Amino acid sequence: MTQDHSLIDRLGGPLAGLCEVVGMPPEQPVELLTGLLGPHGARPANAGPVWPSDIADDHSPAEFSLAYNDNEPPALRILAEALALTPSLRSNMDAAESFLQAHADRLGISFRHLDRIRDLFAAEQPHGPFVLWLSLVFRSDRRPEFKVYLNPEVHGADNSSEVVAEALHRLGLGETYQKMLDHAVRPGELGKRDRLTFLALDLYDEPQARVKLYLSHHEARARDVARASSIVDGVDADEVAAFCSAAGFRGRFDRRPLVGSYTFTGDADRPVGYSVYVPIRDYVGDDLEARFRVQALLAWHGFDTTLFDRALGAISTRPLADGVGLIPHVSLRLGPPRPGVTVYLSAEAYGVIPPRTVRAKVA
Ligand code: TRP
Repeated sequence: MTQDHSLIDRLGGPLAGLCEVVGMPPEQPVELLTGLLGPHGARPANAGPVWPSDIADDHSPAEFSLAYNDNEPPALRILAEALALTPSLRSNMDAAESFLQAHADRLGISFRHLDRIRDLFAAEQPHGPFVLWLSLVFRSDRRPEFKVYLNPEVHGADNSSEVVAEALHRLGLGETYQKMLDHAVRPGELGKRDRLTFLALDLYDEPQARVKLYLSHHEARARDVARASSIVDGVDADEVAAFCSAAGFRGRFDRRPLVGSYTFTGDADRPVGYSVYVPIRDYVGDDLEARFRVQALLAWHGFDTTLFDRALGAISTRPLADGVGLIPHVSLRLGPPRPGVTVYLSAEAYGVIPPRTVRAKVA
């Protein structure tokens, strides 16, 4: 790679490659990503990040993912932080809102849910690593879908539960909140080892639009998230635990936390789905090991592993054993609308994290 690649070269190139792998034209995804980066897209990547985004480990403001499901090719998704001219927690949130406004009419973005709760996340001096992130979901032959992620800890971890309680109440989803907390939070750990990390909203105006509540479980075991998942009808808690152990390991996840999310759709006042996210990069030595595990998980759930290998090839050309972090998370989605497995992919625009294993070099 030459020294003068820009940020958009390093993110847009891999994105175009992923579009090809899933069989969709790259123009619109790349154009939208370019819009999110603003003028910073042209900044040379070797100048380092203009803003230390928490989206990716190397502070890249975007992360990609492939969401496998039973009925169609995997959806391609971008999780991104919009970058303001002068980036800050608040100005990046404003940049995200302007970006959405600019595309609202053409792409059918609805602010109905966001309008009801936006003020709860307004802070003079926001706490935490972000206020609002975006996700863009691309499926063949359909308009992209947009989602916002809001930070429940924006007024501090101690106030997160109140923020979420009020937000869910306004969205008409308050009924089962206490029950979720009772199952997902270990005694006395709310705001400590069990944290309310994201409240996510689909930005389209249809009955199947979702609200998702995410909790991060620090130093948790697979059985802790299995218990959290057990209140959702139809979810097999043993399957959740088995997925965590297969993606991570059997024991306490004492590096990055296990994350779980509850999904609400339409007017149903109880969660209809549960997803678990395993930060696989912290529980493998290198990306070769991560790839083997992900292939096994995909095969186990009946998905095509050759497409995944092509996606890895599109995102990076470095030997997999030379770093760790190309696959930051792998997740299992249970319940409607589309159960399946999601694999997250980092383009490593700003740097590669060295492997933890030392492999013998064959001379
Ligand atoms: N980089 C952050 C983390 O790893 C946020 C994040 C990005 C994340 N993608 C994610 C968290 C997927 C959970 C799942 O925590």
